Amino acid sequence: MGIKAIILAAGKGTRMKSKLPKVLHKVCGKEMVNHVIDASLEAGAKSNIVVIGHGGEAVGNCLPEGVETVVQEEQLGTGHAVMMANNYIDDSDTIVILCGDTPLIEGETIKALIEFHRKYGFAVSVLSALMENPKGYGRIIRGESKELVGIVEEKDASEEQRLVCEINSGMYCFEGKALREALLEIRSDNSQGEYYLTDAVEIIRGKGMTAGAFAGATSEQIMGVNNRLQLSEAECLMKKRINEFHMLNGVTLIDPLATYIESGALIGSDTIIYPGSLIKGNSVIGEGCIVGPGCTIDSSRLDDGCEIQNSVIVKSAVGSGSKVGPFAYLRPNSNIGRNVKIGDFVEVKNSNIGDNSKASHLSYIGDADVGEDVNIGCGTVFVNYDGKKKSRAKVGDRSFIGCNTNLIAPVELGENSYIAAGSTITDNVPGDSFAIARQRQTTKEGYLKGDKWEKKD
Ligand code: UD1
Ligand code: CA
Repeated sequence: MGIKAIILAAGKGTRMKSKLPKVLHKVCGKEMVNHVIDASLEAGAKSNIVVIGHGGEAVGNCLPEGVETVVQEEQLGTGHAVMMANNYIDDSDTIVILCGDTPLIEGETIKALIEFHRKYGFAVSVLSALMENPKGYGRIIRGESKELVGIVEEKDASEEQRLVCEINSGMYCFEGKALREALLEIRSDNSQGEYYLTDAVEIIRGKGMTAGAFAGATSEQIMGVNNRLQLSEAECLMKKRINEFHMLNGVTLIDPLATYIESGALIGSDTIIYPGSLIKGNSVIGEGCIVGPGCTIDSSRLDDGCEIQNSVIVKSAVGSGSKVGPFAYLRPNSNIGRNVKIGDFVEVKNSNIGDNSKASHLSYIGDADVGEDVNIGCGTVFVNYDGKKKSRAKVGDRSFIGCNTNLIAPVELGENSYIAAGSTITDNVPGDSFAIARQRQTTKEGYLKGDKWEKKD
């Protein structure tokens, strides 16, 4: 009695002019087919089967766990595509058919279609929409008492039928038994020589079962993406949807048109996002943060009250109250503590930085474990690579590293150690110690007064 979804995604997508299968093109950071699967799961489908085309392995590899694929070697039409999934259909199932290239469909709409379908006890229910310009779509043909009679493809439609503005979204809800029986009877005797899934409506009615059309979709939700222009339109609409969601959740977007938040991101209330910022992947941003302008936050976590300006943060975490940027780069696996300052032109990679520590300017911190309350002076370089292997450095709590220091890893500084500016540290420094490692200054008094150097003009 469960709900199963079959997602049609075998079409070549020639018009995308791409090596990538059409349904793997992303809208707001997520593959189109995965947007559809998310909507399906939200609507309560307990299993999802994706019909992929010849060479569609790449699609299979991008799908979430538990989603199955079935291959349609030759694209002989939507009816033929569903036939490929015949083995998954049980008589007692409710089958939802969706398209992999309609990323804007929402779970709630599919849910409403299923409710409509069950309420009236139809054997098949079609999700339809009213379109100002129905060109290219199959038209919904209703009878005298407005019942659904059939669906006519534009290429097969009469002049009069073409005037109908209610169109087929290409999404349906079927009773398993009715669908299985209809699939046996679909033929390809039409203008395109294809097996039309839409013919199932008439077949099912011919067997004395009932069919309905649910005009519950907006033109936006059923919009199919066939080329890059439509891809950008989908991106724009999805972006608007995501941004509105966050704004209504209490996030301030100074300029929503210039703010790019991917669909997996979470953002706490009272966070302010300035223009030119991109929040990617499953990033989680806390409350009361200030992000931007010009930030990329990719698959990272920012705790409450962080301030990030003109910086790039990838697969890293920043503790509450910390300030990053302007112009900082946190590369993967950087864990920044609370109330830390990572200032301008500081790059951090695969490092841990303890609470209240500061690297205010022009430093490279790679493969390091830096304790709490540490001051990393301007121009400090953690020298982590000898040309063959990477090594880690450790800096104890409350240490002070003077400007322009090189720490040649592997090396450890104990707690409360102090490194003189300009030092190149190759040996461990015990706690509470001062280390200086640089040439003494030589000053040659009067050196420039000799014949050779005296200025002549
Ligand atoms: C189909 C409908 C049309 C509807 C429109 C909505 C039919 C006959 N027509 O038309 O009434 O208005 O969708 O967008 O169903 N696919 C396969 N294998 C195939 C053919 C298609 O997997 O052999 C997949 C495509 O990848 C796509 C979906 O099915 O995701 C719809 O196919 P498409 O060719 O776009 O259908 P239309 O001809 O536009
Ligand atoms: Ca087509």
